[in-house]
Amino acid sequence: MNLEAFYKMSYGIYMIASCDGDELSAYIANTAFQVTATPPKLAISCHKDNHSAGVIERSGVFTVSALEKDTDAGLIGLFGYKSGNEKQKFQRVNYITGVTGAPVILTHAAAYFECRVVDQFDVGTHYLFIGEVVEAVLNGEDKDPLTYAWYREELQGYAPERAPTYIDRSKIAKPAEDREAPETTDERYICPICAYVYDPLKGDVSQDIPPGTPFEDLPADWICPVCAAAKSMFIPEN
Ligand SMILES: Cc1cc2nc3c(=O)[nH]c(=O)nc-3n(C[C@H](O)[C@H](O)[C@H](O)COP(=O)(O)O)c2cc1C
Repeated sequence: MNLEAFYKMSYGIYMIASCDGDELSAYIANTAFQVTATPPKLAISCHKDNHSAGVIERSGVFTVSALEKDTDAGLIGLFGYKSGNEKQKFQRVNYITGVTGAPVILTHAAAYFECRVVDQFDVGTHYLFIGEVVEAVLNGEDKDPLTYAWYREELQGYAPERAPTYIDRSKIAKPAEDREAPETTDERYICPICAYVYDPLKGDVSQDIPPGTPFEDLPADWICPVCAAAKSMFIPEN
């Protein structure tokens, strides 16, 4: 099986939120999609170990915020790599309570949908929740949606093991002789937690690091823009 074929599947990037009483939950998902038009229904695939899975199962409601292209990688890192700590997560965002009582995250949302669960399927590692859309709102004009391809290629982001689209990159790594020659002698460094790659050619706009800054010259308090890992944890890519 050629695992790289899966990279040709297209997705957006979404914030899925829910609550059961006072217990809030939210996570990043690429797997959210419309399954019917009349009535409109969305499906989400939520890992059983996600804190959110239990919250959605108990409450029977969830919201889907379609993130805009300008979303910073740090927000995706917090909601996509940190599990459960809803206090820390919800302090970082603006949100409202929607018509179902579930939180709707507005930060970087191009649009949002509020859903009531009408079906739930056990698909192995994940639950597939089918939600009937009870509200759909455009959050501002003309915000381009963030795509999974942009997240991977431009933000250098990566999907963790709990994402349905997780791919073990060691299984598709090319042999050394097939790799393209680096365009610079500057070494790229990789985050061992989320696999973000610091590329000196690109710098890190989210932390005002200009292109051309070698890894060694990054400030000591520089952190991974995706999952907030410390600079000291990074390892050379090769
Ligand atoms: C780009 C990206 C896509 C993801 N897609 C999904 C997804 O579709 N389903 C899922 O269950 N987890 C997905 N995850 C992982 C969850 O966001 C992650 O496990 C999160 O920490 C769960 O939070 P919770 O335990 O507080 O619910 C994704 C993460 C990233 C970074």
